[in-house]
Amino acid sequence: MNKTRILCIVGTRPEAIKMAPVIAALKAADWCECIVIATGQHRELLDQVFAVFDIRPDADLKVMQENQGLAGLTARLLVALDAAIDQWQPQMLMAQGDTTSVLCAAMAAFYRRLPFAHVEAGLRTHDLGNPFPEEMNRMMAGLLTRWHFAPTQSSCDNLLAERVDPARIFVTGNTVIDALHSVAERADRSFQFAKPGRRLVLVTAHRRENFGTPLAEICRAIAALAARRPDVDFLFPWHPNPNVRAVVHPAIGSLPNVTLCEPLDYLQFVAAMRQSHFILSDSGGVQEEAPALAKPVLVLRRETERPEAVAAGVVKLVGHDFDDIVAAADALLDQPQAYAAMARGVSPYGDGHAAARIERILAASFGAA
Ligand code: UD1
Ligand code: UDP
Repeated sequence: MNKTRILCIVGTRPEAIKMAPVIAALKAADWCECIVIATGQHRELLDQVFAVFDIRPDADLKVMQENQGLAGLTARLLVALDAAIDQWQPQMLMAQGDTTSVLCAAMAAFYRRLPFAHVEAGLRTHDLGNPFPEEMNRMMAGLLTRWHFAPTQSSCDNLLAERVDPARIFVTGNTVIDALHSVAERADRSFQFAKPGRRLVLVTAHRRENFGTPLAEICRAIAALAARRPDVDFLFPWHPNPNVRAVVHPAIGSLPNVTLCEPLDYLQFVAAMRQSHFILSDSGGVQEEAPALAKPVLVLRRETERPEAVAAGVVKLVGHDFDDIVAAADALLDQPQAYAAMARGVSPYGDGHAAARIERILAASFGAA
């Protein structure tokens, strides 16, 4: 039997985490050949995830440059992905999410008239500036997509509102929950981040639209909280983007109860989430994982494309204003009832079987089910 060759394009940390279960499912299937192309949009962060999930990419396009701009990154990716298509001669391409690697994968497929499968399709804020440039990336990728794997009904509804053919949309759940389940036991075993008798607040921030003043405000709020609460520890595994480090280090790098550390690998990060009291973050993936771990998230953004956990009351949008962040954090630290209301353990983003559904849907499309 001739196997269907699928190029899975993976560029950044969250894509690798969310594609790992899909890659595993495709590699275990006998009807297809799963070729993993690392774009290398991220270097250290991508390699960290590959190590945890034991993924060995078939090719690495090595596109990352220091403090890369969007136009140059897009140009490098498109040319390199086109060459990869030449080399591998696939029947389809597949990618997850809304990064520049994903937009370029969809465009590269389109230029070669190859079908494109989009994992985590249909997320929208309906604001092109928030998040930037991700809202544009996912809308453009959506225009070029043959299989839209929407994680939730609300992401499916977004696509239907854009007049996407319903026969091309599949509600699968988010593969991040599959990834989380697959590491949960390993993550628990060997890492200790919370100190006995002290509460831990986990922090991440990396969004481009928060660079500059918003990130400085976020740091000012953390500094104020840390100064007023010597009994609480703050752990901030910082993103290697130099625009993050330039602001964060001078603002909170020398406070005794704030620890800045290099990015944690996924096992360590899941352990840190589990041991935290709550999480302050502008990350997308963390908004999906933390509710499943019963950890409240205060989202350092004005809008989110993940409204389900907000509606469930377990994630709160606080934006990046000093007073709003401090007030919301104070409530979680001082009011047990407010905390309990947010720490309920709901998982609106999936049941851990999204990757298997995706594999079955593709198998059926290629007559292999
Ligand atoms: C990218 C994605 C964003 C995603 C985030 C996940 C785009 C435009 N942005 O943002 O959607 O939420 O990844 O983390 O696709 N760097 C390193 N080593 C690394 C990774 C990054 O040194 O392993 C530094 C480099 O200087 C690089 C810079 O960070 O130029 C920015 O990387 P880039 O991928 O452009 O943007 P992110 O902010 O990481
Ligand atoms: N993450 C990690 N180590 C860290 C910080 C985050 O493994 O130090 C994981 C996190 O659990 C989530 C993903 O990385 O699955 C989110 O990545 P990021 O915030 O960089 O991107 P986004 O989700 O915002 O696109």
